[in-house]
Amino acid sequence: MNALHVYAGEDGATWRALFAAQAPEIECTAWPDTVEAAAVTSIACWNPPDGFFAGFPNLRSVFALGAGVDRLVERTDLAPHVALVRLVDAGMAAQMVEYAQLGVLLWQRRCLDYRTQQAQAAWRKLRPIARADTRVGVLGLGAMGGAIAAALDEAGYRVWGWSRRAHQIDGVRCLHEANGLSELLGETDVLVNTLPSTTATRGLLDRTRLAQLPTGALVVNAARGDQLDTSALLELLDSGHLGGALLDVFDPEPLPPDSPLWRHPRIVITPHVAATTLPGPAVAQIVDNLRRSRSGESMTGVVDRSVGY
Ligand code: GLV
Repeated sequence: MNALHVYAGEDGATWRALFAAQAPEIECTAWPDTVEAAAVTSIACWNPPDGFFAGFPNLRSVFALGAGVDRLVERTDLAPHVALVRLVDAGMAAQMVEYAQLGVLLWQRRCLDYRTQQAQAAWRKLRPIARADTRVGVLGLGAMGGAIAAALDEAGYRVWGWSRRAHQIDGVRCLHEANGLSELLGETDVLVNTLPSTTATRGLLDRTRLAQLPTGALVVNAARGDQLDTSALLELLDSGHLGGALLDVFDPEPLPPDSPLWRHPRIVITPHVAATTLPGPAVAQIVDNLRRSRSGESMTGVVDRSVGY
């Protein structure tokens, strides 16, 4: 009883070895190992097939091998009494900070304008933009967005943030609720989206909200594709209202080869790599949580399934 089972596709053996190294006291198997399903009380996983959880009658907790749990929250095979736990930071916040910096520098150092000029072999110096004149708006101020806002503020950018709940970050103006969002969008040169995908945030960056951004603004989406209306984005880029986009996430993924996003000159695309799960820190966090739970303490990163993250 009390065994942990891992579903990580073809990487199962690697994860099993890491759990064994960090917590030899935990009995761990990994798909496709043969498993005594009734003994499994915890599962650590990423995108298990539909119906997977139904095979484990004594399941008590499911640990996501990632930060975003939108796919897991929707699962009908996950009984309501099972605790759903996500990774909190676990080495991903630092990667997200780098990705946000990439977007900010694309805008501040006018990389997309210079790319256009490069295509025309045009040697033309554009007006430089100072960090203090670069307004960055961060959506979501949790482990990821909070780290981004703090790092960019520290680097001298003008940062503000918006989130569902009120947050406090030194040097960063933190807004929340609907009015705050319009205010932020109206004065943001680089918009960085790190929000979890929930019923409240799906479709949030629609045509109306994107049009509230000032002329020339750049959109960074490092959260989930279903939050951004890419048709509206393309329209606003083509009309010259928006200046560019750095996109890591799409709906659906992989981004289909015939998507116009691939070939747009003012869009930079990465294949969902803004922050990848680091197995070492991820296993450490899950082991810590398993030990907490076994000694009756509360776990970190437990998802409130009613709000979706
Ligand atoms: C990646 O998208 C994650 O949610 O960790």
